[in-house]
Amino acid sequence: MNTTVPSDVADPRLAGPGKLRIEWADQEMPVLAMIRQRFAKEKPLAGIRVAACLHVTSETANLMRTLQAGGAEVTLCASNPLSTQDEVAASMSEDYGISVYARKGEDHGTYYSHLAAALDTRPHITMDDGADLVSMLHKDRTDLLSHIRGGTEETTTGVIRLRAMARDGALKLPIVAVNESDTKHLFDNRYGTGQSTLDGIIRSTNILLAGKNLVVVGYGWCGRGIASRADGMGANVIVVEVNPVRALEAVMDGYRVTDMAGAAAIGDLFVTVTGNKHVIAREHFERMKDGAIVCNSGHFDVELELPSLRAMAPESREVRPYVQEFKLPGGRRIYLLGEGRLINLAAAEGHPAAVMDMSFANQALAAEMIARSKERLSIAVHRVPEDLDREVARLKLQTMGVALQVLTPEQERYLNSWEEGT
Ligand SMILES: NC(=O)c1ccc[n+]([C@@H]2O[C@H](COP(=O)([O-])OP(=O)(O)OC[C@H]3O[C@@H](n4cnc5c(N)ncnc54)[C@H](O)[C@@H]3O)[C@@H](O)[C@H]2O)c1
Repeated sequence: MNTTVPSDVADPRLAGPGKLRIEWADQEMPVLAMIRQRFAKEKPLAGIRVAACLHVTSETANLMRTLQAGGAEVTLCASNPLSTQDEVAASMSEDYGISVYARKGEDHGTYYSHLAAALDTRPHITMDDGADLVSMLHKDRTDLLSHIRGGTEETTTGVIRLRAMARDGALKLPIVAVNESDTKHLFDNRYGTGQSTLDGIIRSTNILLAGKNLVVVGYGWCGRGIASRADGMGANVIVVEVNPVRALEAVMDGYRVTDMAGAAAIGDLFVTVTGNKHVIAREHFERMKDGAIVCNSGHFDVELELPSLRAMAPESREVRPYVQEFKLPGGRRIYLLGEGRLINLAAAEGHPAAVMDMSFANQALAAEMIARSKERLSIAVHRVPEDLDREVARLKLQTMGVALQVLTPEQERYLNSWEEGT
């Protein structure tokens, strides 16, 4: 359709298979498609430039198409150097006229030059997954801040960073935290990360999970999803948590719970999903069994203390794509998957489209909320309003053909009254 938009993708000739992938994902994204149809009529984003820094996947392509249908001029860059699907990037730029700056495996300098290119479009709205764009705006491009009407944030780690900025008075933009919607984190983080993390582990290693001691570090939304899916495949799940309530929940969900030192000695496979730093550190690598596999599905690649692992192992080699073998003195081997980056996006395809349908419906509605609001939203971290969140769930049920019980007027009165008792 349009081959003239400025872009930097690995190979524009990959557009054909990329378009097929985008269309395949679209079939599982009916809620987003409904929003796209409405946007095409109402054009709520007419005249709005959006700079999005998201994982460049087929699901994201369908979000970009939705924003475009709403009248927005969209530029996309990657939110992780390893998560880009090159054929999807090619199709977006070649077939849909969307500017894309993303190449799978791009180096640190290219990654940041791509973010800078997205900001050079002088966006009115930013979309982040991990707050890198907003962070660059506040550090290097403060000239653009007053021009921007607001930003959205997709993931837990980004929301944590943005809340810290708001707390310190450093935040200069209104943000809508899409991750906080129930129709986002309850489904995307739990079922999406749960399934796709195991998918990434299996695609990269082809190991049998049944009978393995699988250690999940962090029992939040993502950790719960990974634990329950691994349990269903026959793994012995061991949970490591710092929050006593969540640790207790893991115990009562039937998992063995212990600290990292205890888990390090018995685990066959380790997955971190804490949003924290160095949760598996040198002293833990030192206790691991020969052949232990470590990977991360949290947002940043800092959850595993990789500088220590590299320092401990003079020799390392790639034994399969996304599998690096580290040989420790004495001969023990530790296998690192996907360079310690989000394994579900590095070695698999990220979340299935059916959950991204809801996450990206929230993104599209958040962008509409920012664009339609007469006054700029207050400088704070906002939620998507609860009625919109519920509407996304209602639409999803509708597209799944699931009937929802409706309160009778008598029940509604009863629930809103205090007079009736025993
Ligand atoms: N892979 C993906 O596609 C994907 C999808 C969604 C979210 N994420 C990322 O995954 C991470 C987790 O997200 P979430 O929504 O589950 O967050 P969450 O806040 O619900 O859960 C994180 C848990 O980790 C625990 N934790 C923190 N430090 C720890 C430590 N040192 N040891 C053990 N436990 C520790 C916390 O107490 C918390 O219970 C974030 O970085 C988020 O951005 C990744």
